[in-house]
Amino acid sequence: ATLSATATIQGDQEQGTISKHIYGHFMEHLGRCIYDGLWVGEDSSIPNTRGIRNDVIAALKELNCPNLRWPGGCFADDYHWRDGIGPRKERPKRINIHWGQVIETNAFGTHEFLDLCEIVGAEPYVAGNVGSGSPQEMRDWIEYMTFDGDSELANLRRANGREKPWKIPFFGVGNENWGCGGNMTPEFYADLYKRFATFCRDLSGNHLMRVACGPNGGNDHWTSVVFPRVSGQAEALSLHYYTLSAPWHDKLRATGFSEVQWFGILNSTLRMGDILDSTEAIMNATDPEKYRHLFVDEWGTWYREEEGTNPSVLFQQNSLRDALVAGLNFHIFQQHHERVKLCNIAQTVNVLQAMILTEGPKMLLTPTYHAFEMCKVHQDTKYLPVKLESPRYSLGSESIPAVSVSASRATDGTVYISLVNTHALESVDLKCQLADIDASQVAGRVLTADALDAHNTFDQPNRVEPSEFSDCSISATTLNTTLPPHSLVVLTLSK
Ligand code: AHR
Repeated sequence: ATLSATATIQGDQEQGTISKHIYGHFMEHLGRCIYDGLWVGEDSSIPNTRGIRNDVIAALKELNCPNLRWPGGCFADDYHWRDGIGPRKERPKRINIHWGQVIETNAFGTHEFLDLCEIVGAEPYVAGNVGSGSPQEMRDWIEYMTFDGDSELANLRRANGREKPWKIPFFGVGNENWGCGGNMTPEFYADLYKRFATFCRDLSGNHLMRVACGPNGGNDHWTSVVFPRVSGQAEALSLHYYTLSAPWHDKLRATGFSEVQWFGILNSTLRMGDILDSTEAIMNATDPEKYRHLFVDEWGTWYREEEGTNPSVLFQQNSLRDALVAGLNFHIFQQHHERVKLCNIAQTVNVLQAMILTEGPKMLLTPTYHAFEMCKVHQDTKYLPVKLESPRYSLGSESIPAVSVSASRATDGTVYISLVNTHALESVDLKCQLADIDASQVAGRVLTADALDAHNTFDQPNRVEPSEFSDCSISATTLNTTLPPHSLVVLTLSK
């Protein structure tokens, strides 16, 4: 059967900008994200630019990757930046206490990360150490990276090969300080935040957005204690929400799942909307002008580790379901564009909901990668509200909307509409009124597959990839389209 939906794209009610930074990425010293995934070293036989894999660089450039968050995660609150500068052979080896107690060689440090950002064209988001570090260490790192004058730390940076300072637009003052970042109470963290943030200064024309640690999912108590206390000294609050749909000790599998688990994951990822609503309501009480931003700087699916892999490396496959999770979250972030200005999916390569998987010299792009690539058209466009009447997709006693839509308009007048059909089995006919949208042509791309858990492997790297979509047409001010079951579609409307 085919379901029916109607919508109006309210081109007459154009709103603010969808920040490109909601399409950001996160890379932690965890498993094979950095070592193997991004960094292979200059002497590797894998083609690289100053140690960074060329295939991964090209893939991230293609995404218009707007920002990269580093070095953690939990790792950030046990990272001492001085370990990662100077000649690589002399860098100390440390234990990565959070992720398998493996030896961290520190081969990838500040210079390598900021070099990667410059190569890819991404803006750096550096996470500082509150948990096991000091305000002095944090202020020194900022000076090392951003000061242009004649100070010992700026000269040390020059001696290490970087003459000009870097621009660091985003700086996290701790990560998950309610958990792995120190197990703090919100009151204690708020005080510590203010102490650390006092010493995080704008130097040599750099402007830091200081990011305070926000809630774990919808922990409104944390937000209501921390936000009003720190907001005088914070430009943004972070928020983490992972999609599990199962107890922590019994996570779902990334592939080989039933329709119930397809539905469960999509249903639980949609909670992001409620979590953002309740967090924003607390922020609105003391910051109604929305001067302070909300950064969802960790999000994505978290499944059981793949069989035969070490649980601490968090390696999971990535299926069509993950691509739809990404699409649904983009829509939620875009709907919250006034407050949500930056997001980072966890994590870029080989960890959790990755864009890219590698195996030695081989690399593949996951369905989630393709969702980012298809939806990048929304970056820095204007948000267009959508009035939607969607049929429900019901399973057991629960139901979710079968359709999710988000629309935007670029400066040249092009309108982009992304659509997700969450239904596992049914296609959806959508009749869409275009209010004040000057368009007569529509072109489309679709991401779908013959199985709900379809995924890419090194043997079959292109099983799930976008293709041209022609089941769409415009007549006068109506757009008609039929969304295939379990699909992500992006339409481009032009004159
Ligand atoms: O992304 C993996 C981990 O999840 C991060 O290190 C931590 O911040 C979160 O709990």
